[in-house]
Amino acid sequence: MRTALTHPRKALVMPASTRTGSVNQALARHIAARLDNGSPVEIVDLNDYPLPLYDGDLEERDGIPAAAAALAGEMASADVLVLVSPECNGTFTPLLKNTVDWVTPIDASAFAHLWVLVASASPGRGGGANGVAMVRTWLSNMGIDAAERTVSVGDASVGLDGELVRIDHAELTRFVSQATAEPSAA
Ligand SMILES: Cc1cc2nc3c(=O)[nH]c(=O)nc-3n(C[C@H](O)[C@H](O)[C@H](O)COP(=O)(O)O)c2cc1C
Repeated sequence: MRTALTHPRKALVMPASTRTGSVNQALARHIAARLDNGSPVEIVDLNDYPLPLYDGDLEERDGIPAAAAALAGEMASADVLVLVSPECNGTFTPLLKNTVDWVTPIDASAFAHLWVLVASASPGRGGGANGVAMVRTWLSNMGIDAAERTVSVGDASVGLDGELVRIDHAELTRFVSQATAEPSAA
């Protein structure tokens, strides 16, 4: 059972896109920079955890991929997980779903200790808010706590410096503040 946090030991920020020039990776960097207040913050690059499409026969034959075990270890050492997912045809990415599908056979309660925040960015007007809502429903179905306040950056694009062109700093600060807030007050 996760306990309420006032000082997170470690936060993982996980953009659910491996695409070069990803707006969600750019948003993840903004979030990580704001979380970095003396506590360890790590951006999980899912390129470093390549996983096949989950298949029970594959698991039976070859076991759990080393990348999934490594990621499960990262999650076990964290207190806060920030999921930053593109919206893909009205929901979150298959990359995020597949990643979690490989982690949960290792430890069905891999999320139980984590306080989860959910964000998105999209070149579309809605910023991927539908995908965020789907992530929250999915997490809830798995019995996972997620912070009430989400952030969805619409009309998102990255500039020549690789960073988001427009960002609502006040909104992002409010979002990130939940990482250290008591869940009931979030
Ligand atoms: C197959 C596909 C489906 C998409 N569906 C949506 C969608 O439902 N809503 C949305 O806002 N953007 C949608 N997009 C646009 C993505 O938000 C956009 O490509 C975004 O840049 C992807 O995130 P990334 O830059 O972090 O990789 C879709 C893109 C693709 C390729």
